[in-house]
Amino acid sequence: MKNSFTIDSPSTPKLDRFVPLPKQKEFLIMDRRFDFFGYIGGWGAGKTIAGCVKSLLLASMYPGNVGLVARNSFPQLRDTTMRTFRELTPDSIIKGYSKTDTMLELVNGSVILFRHLGDENLKSLNLGFFYIDEAVDVDEQIFYLLVSRLRLPHIPKRVGFFTTNPGDFSSWIYRLFINPTTKKERFGVVFSSTLDNTYLPEGYRENLLAALDDKYAERYIHGKFNELTTGRVYFEFSMEKNVSSEVRLLPDIPLHIGMDFNVNPMAATVTQDVGDELWVVDEIYLPNSNSWEMAREITKRFKGYTIFIYPDAT
Ligand SMILES: Nc1ncnc2c1ncn2[C@@H]1O[C@H](COP(=O)(O)OP(=O)(O)OP(=O)(O)O)[C@@H](O)[C@H]1O
Ligand SMILES: [Mg+2]
Repeated sequence: MKNSFTIDSPSTPKLDRFVPLPKQKEFLIMDRRFDFFGYIGGWGAGKTIAGCVKSLLLASMYPGNVGLVARNSFPQLRDTTMRTFRELTPDSIIKGYSKTDTMLELVNGSVILFRHLGDENLKSLNLGFFYIDEAVDVDEQIFYLLVSRLRLPHIPKRVGFFTTNPGDFSSWIYRLFINPTTKKERFGVVFSSTLDNTYLPEGYRENLLAALDDKYAERYIHGKFNELTTGRVYFEFSMEKNVSSEVRLLPDIPLHIGMDFNVNPMAATVTQDVGDELWVVDEIYLPNSNSWEMAREITKRFKGYTIFIYPDAT
């Protein structure tokens, strides 16, 4: 059962002829430093091809590996990610595709499964790696579900990785992988711009630059997380100016707590006056809660501090 349909206009090189862009090269060796990692970039920045190359390398390197290549919806998976994968894979390493083309077996016994992320059967997989294309469309819970499936024995290192356009600051990707104050250890990303991809047809980058307004260009060309909607509450907030890993709870300085009295969630920001700056040192987020629980949480976390609370009276 060889590849069951032909590709009419392959634009993707075969794996053995693939010459990575500098950012792709960085991405391809991220598993030396990280267990979970991503390639974030603008449109056409070479994201999907990078994710497919990494998947093929892991499947080739470790015989008997089982990898998942996934995306939120099946049509997108089939029309872009799977297509790139097929174009990339040299015939010499293919043992066969399943009838529906959703499983590829390599001659070394490794298997790659192509699934959309609404698939009920994800819960029964034992994986050596997973790759999510356009992860910004995917729920955080699904990411954790896939993390829990990384338990194929006999593989020296199991990893999860993704490629994606950036999203906004509320995305789990931003929180877990980028924000210096909430980022997880051994989680890492590389950023790339559409302008870095020298393989794109002439005029593509110029057309995009001419067409997109500044905020869209920042996200979809330059590959940066941002807010696209105007009217942001803190419109002057900037990640560069207002976020620092130095900010932490200091002893002996009173706390100023802004309190939002809701039931779900009950939330508070905890700040301290440090010189002429106001440091936001903690936040409290209690789903389905009440004033008593909030009071308990505050006394548990901040015993001994002088505390001023500023409730939202509305
Ligand atoms: N290292 C490379 N060698 C040859 N071609 C490349 C390379 N990197 C990217 N390309 C080509 O650049 C084009 C865009 O790549 P790709 O589809 O991977 O980008 P993308 O960021 O996933 O795009 P999209 O934003 O549409 O999802 C493709 O035609 C791809 O084959
Ligand atoms: Mg893509």
